[in-house]
Amino acid sequence: MFNRRNFVKKVGMLTAGVTVQGVSTGSSNKSIFLDQGPIVISTWDAGMEANIPAWAILEKGGLALDAVEQGVRHTENSLNCCVGLGANPDRDGHVTLDACIMDHNHNCGAVAFLERIKHPISVARRVMEKTPHVMLVGEGAQQFALAEGFKLESDQLSPAAQAAYTDWLHQSQYKSPSINRENKNDHGPFAPTRLQNGEWNHDTIGMIALDKQGNLSGSCTTSGAGFKMRGRVGDSPIIGAGLFVDNQVGACVATGQGEDVIRVAGASTVVELMRQGKTPQQACETIIQRVVQIKKERAKNIQVAFLALSNRGEVGAFAIHPGFSFAYKDLQRSELIKAASWFKSN
Ligand code: GLY
Repeated sequence: MFNRRNFVKKVGMLTAGVTVQGVSTGSSNKSIFLDQGPIVISTWDAGMEANIPAWAILEKGGLALDAVEQGVRHTENSLNCCVGLGANPDRDGHVTLDACIMDHNHNCGAVAFLERIKHPISVARRVMEKTPHVMLVGEGAQQFALAEGFKLESDQLSPAAQAAYTDWLHQSQYKSPSINRENKNDHGPFAPTRLQNGEWNHDTIGMIALDKQGNLSGSCTTSGAGFKMRGRVGDSPIIGAGLFVDNQVGACVATGQGEDVIRVAGASTVVELMRQGKTPQQACETIIQRVVQIKKERAKNIQVAFLALSNRGEVGAFAIHPGFSFAYKDLQRSELIKAASWFKSN
């Protein structure tokens, strides 16, 4: 049975003017001490819904690994510009999916450039559990999925993706893609797409859970950059870039322009910074600063964001540009939180 324990929660979101627990310390570096159970956090607005199935597992004492798989499966099922088979295609009109998963024992699995399989996150988990490998890609990943009993889905684009693709072909003329920040005239690969409920949606879903046993797991799934070159793979399926978990320290997921996450070995660097003593918030801010320094002026045109959770339940989040939000759920509350950013306005 789980012995409730004191978690330390760093209120990184204070930088964004928001406190998760409704307790403001007045400084982004102070911590509050809570007696609380599990936590799940996930990227973007879609995380609010994804956290529901994840929480259902966590609150019953289930594994963080199951929670992060089931949570993002929900997003893979939904009509979404950037996750799952309903997402925007590559330049040639095909949806290709990337995903990875990692548990508290450094077990990990990933798939990339996977076509016509509905739940890449579950295929990634099978790679982790049933093969001696970490990553399978393309045709080989699909072959493995089929052998594991996953169904080969239609290659038809969803109506929303077909409309976005047609629009992109007309308007963007294959120009270099841009970012997923709050520019609603943007037709780049991370351009937000308006959902049926009228909201704007973005990019990858990354999820981190801390279960009642005090174990961390993480998941990440995406269709990658919309209208990308065929064969392009971003950060999301790359362990250490889009996701990293170290149960001794914490976990991190990335979202945004994958090439710039890979350049700094994003998620693993955040965890290493935490190991060296930085809070999740400080670690996320440090890595974003590094991306901005590397990109210089060009940082104005890219969005990258990191979301991290320590093994004590401290949360941190930071982005290059405003517009990044994450969904938080624990025993007390469920909320969507706007993260702070390097640039203060677009
Ligand atoms: N972060 C998603 C991608 O770059 O593919």
